[in-house]
Amino acid sequence: MCGIFGCVLHDGREAAPLIHAALKRLEYRGYDSVGEVTISNGTLTVKKDSGRLDEVHAKYNLDDLLGPVGVGHTRWATHGRPVKENSHPLVDCKSRIAVVHNGIIENYLDLKRELETKGHRFASRTDTEVVPHMVEEYLSHGLSLEEAFRKTINRLEGAYSIVLTSLEKPKTILCARQESPLVLGLGDGEYYCASDIAAFLPLTRKALILEEGEMAILDPDGIRILKAKNGVAVKRDAITVTWDPESAKKQGYRHFMLKEIHEQVHTIRDAMRTHEIYYDLLASKLMQSEKVFIVACGTSYHAGLVGGQALMKLAGMNVRVVVASEFSDEALDLVDSKTAILAVSQSGETMDTLNAVRDAKAKGASIVSVTNVLGSTLMRLSDVYIGQNSGPEIGVAATKTFTSQVTVLLRLAIAIGRKKGEVSSKEISELEEALHRTPALIQNLLNTRVEDVKKIAESCSGASSICFLGRGVSVPTSLEGRLKLLELSYIPAIAYPAGESKHGFIALIEEGFPTVFVAPRDETHKKIIGNIMEMKARGARIISIIEEGDEEVRNLSDDVIEIPESLPSLATPVVYVVPLQLLAYYMSVILGHDPDYPRNLAKSVTVE
Ligand code: G6P
Repeated sequence: MCGIFGCVLHDGREAAPLIHAALKRLEYRGYDSVGEVTISNGTLTVKKDSGRLDEVHAKYNLDDLLGPVGVGHTRWATHGRPVKENSHPLVDCKSRIAVVHNGIIENYLDLKRELETKGHRFASRTDTEVVPHMVEEYLSHGLSLEEAFRKTINRLEGAYSIVLTSLEKPKTILCARQESPLVLGLGDGEYYCASDIAAFLPLTRKALILEEGEMAILDPDGIRILKAKNGVAVKRDAITVTWDPESAKKQGYRHFMLKEIHEQVHTIRDAMRTHEIYYDLLASKLMQSEKVFIVACGTSYHAGLVGGQALMKLAGMNVRVVVASEFSDEALDLVDSKTAILAVSQSGETMDTLNAVRDAKAKGASIVSVTNVLGSTLMRLSDVYIGQNSGPEIGVAATKTFTSQVTVLLRLAIAIGRKKGEVSSKEISELEEALHRTPALIQNLLNTRVEDVKKIAESCSGASSICFLGRGVSVPTSLEGRLKLLELSYIPAIAYPAGESKHGFIALIEEGFPTVFVAPRDETHKKIIGNIMEMKARGARIISIIEEGDEEVRNLSDDVIEIPESLPSLATPVVYVVPLQLLAYYMSVILGHDPDYPRNLAKSVTVE
């Protein structure tokens, strides 16, 4: 989730200070590295480096770049570490074309190989760099800049918003989008493109929305929009934006957490885009090991619990999932050079997780990891890592990063399961296919079930405690629902494996005690019905997350939230957790708390 801003200004005006200010407003989208390019007197000048905007500006003075046309970028690394050469803009062989990009180009390795055989030299390890080289290649075949750009865009698979400047047409900016966001701004004879409206809000409130598969040409005459596929012109009316700058950053949502819950429709897709090669590398490290430990904290630990079950079920692996702060006391004696540690950490900086990793590494273990922050300490300690591609998460309570972690861990288990042939290929393919369906399912849920969740939140807001129960892979889902609720509403919440609840928790049940059952129609269904009956018989108020059409559980429940489709058991946490995230969010709002910044908590805990 990078931030992009480009502008075409009147002759005599300087683009650089405007780009700098816009990047400041976009910094929340990523802050691994920064870069700007402008064109003046037949020269294309790039300034870029790793680090936050203020650091890079202090080093290079971003404001003294000359010229009325330019583009800037603030990066959240996905392909290639956050170092200077991977920072955007990226240029072609002759430094005549500069490109910035937000998203993931899935087929970049194939395109890169093709361009290398034609003599193009690559300076970075990014997926983005294929774009300037491919445009350069098509220009050398005699195509116009617009056609070369359009042809290039049509070769790309994946998600992208791309902005290009070039000495070929120094007063023009070309841009295109597919899945990643890009909006256009109409100033007074000046034109902008940006990742979000917040970037140009102080300059104009008139915007044009660029739709999927469209490209745009910005020059002093105005903005033209075309269908990238066939070059046909598109007519688009401008909208007038009424948001204030703060809500523009939240794209109109009241809180970052709510925005991030909605973003899951895209972030899960992005988590699915990581190339097979990385999974193969990570899979072989785990398969070479005799013992595997998953270590993590908080929400990442819950994702790790799902991953542990998937590795056992799909790959027959003997995996133990350990809370990172307990790892060295509990399990370090078992660690040797035939051990692999799979560390899961959104930030890659959680001290407890790093300590577990360092202790295991000192005993010769291999370290593999799943993290959202490329360049983090965890990534640097790892032999192999996979980036989960969620973009920055601002809300302290993890939401989108959980569903991405689960997606990555399931894909890892699928990769190992395929290699080991432990379960039928049909079962594995069904799970894989279901993972691809989860974004649309979540979208459906967000379109149709939010009012149901709000009503339940209203009715539970006076409760002195709430319990979450599930079985099998729904145990981690219940634990995550519990964690979200207690950290945001400050109501003491409990979670148990449903079967275990009769060995203690049941003593708390009295008339009306809210008990949330995570009850997908999977192999645990019959047993959980028994558990629901046990609680109901004692007066608990039953709230169930069920598959649509599950009349058995519906008839036993006081309230239900229905998940619109059936899913294989292992895929259920990705979708069933969403109503629980919403429940915690609305409870927090109803109780007058700030869901983005819950008291006493930190996004990244860097102390023991
Ligand atoms: C803190 C955060 C949690 C997070 C946990 C682990 O407690 O508040 O949201 O799950 O740290 O963080 P990590 O960055 O390692 O995933």
